[in-house]
Amino acid sequence: MRPHHRTPRLLGTLLLMAAAGLSLAVGSAPAATGPVAEPLGRVIPAPASVEPAGSPYRITRGTHIRVDDSPAARQVGEYLAGVLRPSTGYPLPVTTHGSGGIRLRLDGGRFGDEGYRLDSGPSGVTITARKPAGLFHGVQTLRQLLPASVEKKTAQPGPWTVAGGTIKDSPRYAYRGAMLDVSRHFFTVAQVKRYIDELALYKINTLHLHLSDDQGWRIAVDSWPRLATYGGSTEVGGGEGGHYTKAQYQEIVRYAASRYLEVVPEIDMPGHTNAALASYPELNCDGVAPPLYTGTDVGFSSLCVPKQVTYDFLDDVIRELAAITPGRYIHIGGDEAHSTSHDDYVKFMDRVQPIVAKYGKTVIAWHQITGAHPVKGALAQYWGLDDTSAAEKAQVAKAAQNGTGLILSPADRFYLDMKYTEDTPLGQDWAGLVEVQRSYDWDPGAYLPGVPASAIAGVEAPLWTETIVRNADIDYMAFPRLPGVAELGWSPASTHDWNAYRVRLAAQGPRWEAMGIGYYRSPQVPWPTR
Ligand code: ACM
Repeated sequence: MRPHHRTPRLLGTLLLMAAAGLSLAVGSAPAATGPVAEPLGRVIPAPASVEPAGSPYRITRGTHIRVDDSPAARQVGEYLAGVLRPSTGYPLPVTTHGSGGIRLRLDGGRFGDEGYRLDSGPSGVTITARKPAGLFHGVQTLRQLLPASVEKKTAQPGPWTVAGGTIKDSPRYAYRGAMLDVSRHFFTVAQVKRYIDELALYKINTLHLHLSDDQGWRIAVDSWPRLATYGGSTEVGGGEGGHYTKAQYQEIVRYAASRYLEVVPEIDMPGHTNAALASYPELNCDGVAPPLYTGTDVGFSSLCVPKQVTYDFLDDVIRELAAITPGRYIHIGGDEAHSTSHDDYVKFMDRVQPIVAKYGKTVIAWHQITGAHPVKGALAQYWGLDDTSAAEKAQVAKAAQNGTGLILSPADRFYLDMKYTEDTPLGQDWAGLVEVQRSYDWDPGAYLPGVPASAIAGVEAPLWTETIVRNADIDYMAFPRLPGVAELGWSPASTHDWNAYRVRLAAQGPRWEAMGIGYYRSPQVPWPTR
């Protein structure tokens, strides 16, 4: 078998084969038995460029996964083998030599930090990237090019074919996030890892953890131990809550990194702080600790802005959190500070943002920070609605014009805890009902008037958990909306097309079923009949 190292030659070969009228994989009849191979373009998020050509590749018992001799490339190879071995039943050794098969190669080409190129033909599949993250994202594409049953955990019949052709791909936005609220209900390390795996499938690269709120403080802080042991001892509805030890948090961070996600920890302030105020009386202006809170109201708590101890406390918390967070950001909340006067809010943010910088991190805050003085380099996370006032949008736009980057999480599009319809058994509806089309069918680059396109850092899908308790609850609210968020974050605007998207989305259903992900069978999506 000839090695197909050089992508231009492979492309030439594919084009010649196509010109010679050799069979095109796309649209070709399924094999007489076994699952149907996916057409090359039926991937979410939509790749930047797809050129079907030539015959498919078939993974067989003899296939090797060939990687460059680097630990990161080998790790991505082992990850791919871990996905493919149970369902194919093949050994799929990960090796640095040989020819053909599945090849993961790092190369100085123009793929950016996360981009990749995938070439598929009869002799093999090659994924090329400049960085391991690109190889990882290419592997996610390869998964989706295989039949849905590849996701099962027991041996399946196959055949395991990958349509022929070339995909060239890189993201529109560098920040593509999902937030999990572990405060309203606590989620174990295993539950968070499970969600990370679901996010990685769609090339989401940021996990924002909402670690503190009125109902629970979820991260151990050595210098203020009662935050976790007392402040973390309950949750919405009065359950026992919980918190992450530093070792557990670091385990989440490491696991996320192995899936090329960066963790953004959030400590919400000055509001959403009842769990902290209950843990330490001195943090309250009147020196009296309120009781723990297990309801779902917002806006009733505030750190004491005039007291020095507030900033000593936050210095300790941010220092300790920064020390266990390799990522670039610390999210300081700043939303719904209804019990803090505007003057106090501005003073507070003026004092806290430099603490984040002091510990080497960049500020992210909810977009209310644009009503204060966001520091240089800060990102504001917009969570308004289509009908948020023009004045509020203008305030955000002005900050963006002055250099504040934006993460877009419009609540009536991207909040995964919003009900799909009135009948959705979980979730909330204060931002409206958010069906799949509403969630997908808008352009982050043209959403807020007066915001320069260059100010959009990316998108994020928050999942607030007042009503969300189990893995199945997470899955039902995230699927099928999460892949749409991922697509708006990754794919070029030119690929956005609801009618084409809903067909690609439908093809994900059997994949989720194979993975044990229960999802909302939206009537807007032409799901295959079971
Ligand atoms: C928020 O939903 N309060 C950010």
